[in-house]
Amino acid sequence: MILAFESSCDETALAIFDPGSGIAGEWIHSQIELHSEHGGVVPDIATREHLRNFGPLLERARASGHWEKITRIAVTRGPGLAACLALGAAAAKAAACALRLPVVGVNHLRAHAWSPFIPVHSECRQGFDERLSGLLPHLGLLASGGNTLLFSISADRGIRQISSTRDDAAGEALDKGAKLLGLGYPGGPAIERLALGARADAFDFPRGIGGRGDLDFSFSGLKTSLRYRVQAMTEDSVRARLGDLCASYQAAVIGSLAYKAAAAAEQGGYRSIGLSGGVANNRGLRSAIEAVARRRGARFLPAEPRHTGDNAAMVGFAAWIDAADAERFAGSALRADPGAYL
Ligand code: KG4
Repeated sequence: MILAFESSCDETALAIFDPGSGIAGEWIHSQIELHSEHGGVVPDIATREHLRNFGPLLERARASGHWEKITRIAVTRGPGLAACLALGAAAAKAAACALRLPVVGVNHLRAHAWSPFIPVHSECRQGFDERLSGLLPHLGLLASGGNTLLFSISADRGIRQISSTRDDAAGEALDKGAKLLGLGYPGGPAIERLALGARADAFDFPRGIGGRGDLDFSFSGLKTSLRYRVQAMTEDSVRARLGDLCASYQAAVIGSLAYKAAAAAEQGGYRSIGLSGGVANNRGLRSAIEAVARRRGARFLPAEPRHTGDNAAMVGFAAWIDAADAERFAGSALRADPGAYL
């Protein structure tokens, strides 16, 4: 069994993953409320909170009845906030030292990339390898507050980045848009709520880089366009048209993600199309990517809602399924790497 640590941003999380029986337990402490007072994640507060929260979470994991069966420790090594990652690595190394167990470092993006396969593993733990080969090659869209990527997983389980954002991440665009509209943090859920029942075609917002040839994303123009739009309106009219503004802005984000995912899907004979990261909670985005998968005859694999945002279950799962990558960062080779890429 693998004891996994996650602390790359504002979630302190632990999980115990058992390759034979799935997720044996997971414990998470979210700091969203603390950061929402500041309109976004404050790195110093996040680090202090991780230090405060790992102890109590470890006590709960210890009382779970699986503690004695742990044989390996895994921790997110990056990308993420430098001090938060360093604190997680220190906590994992200390646990490894105390329990006399090996420790490996997991790439946060690879963990998100594999997260849609956790439910597949829960469905069929015995024939998992066979089931997995039936789902590869895989096309994945990872959209979170810090990252937006399209990637593929080949039949031999190799991960390759296809494209990424040239500026803001999709979640960041939603968070910044929400801030401009005077909504709270995190912005994605607030915008989704207000957009319900409103007109998505009320305002015409730009949808990133045009053309199917360039698969990169860009959201900075969209954000600027919203700023100009709001500046040209009176406060009262912004208030009166808040739903339409949210629906149109959200439609531009979803539209650009789905358009590029569809273009990427045309370029490979993918058997499954996955969706992960915090923005994967968005119902509109889920249906848009599901439609892309349906059109290509591929299975739609969304990460489960409890594993879209940052969590430790995906770290434990990746340490197992992507063991070769994690082993490259074992023991003394394990370092926090804020700029780690896929
Ligand atoms: O994966 P995650 O925790 O990101 C990082 O820590 O990088 O996801 C957080 C992001 C935020 O930008 C948040 O606004 C967005 O995911 N998000 C959503 C929804 N729920 C969370 N965006 C759109 N619709 C949602 N329902």
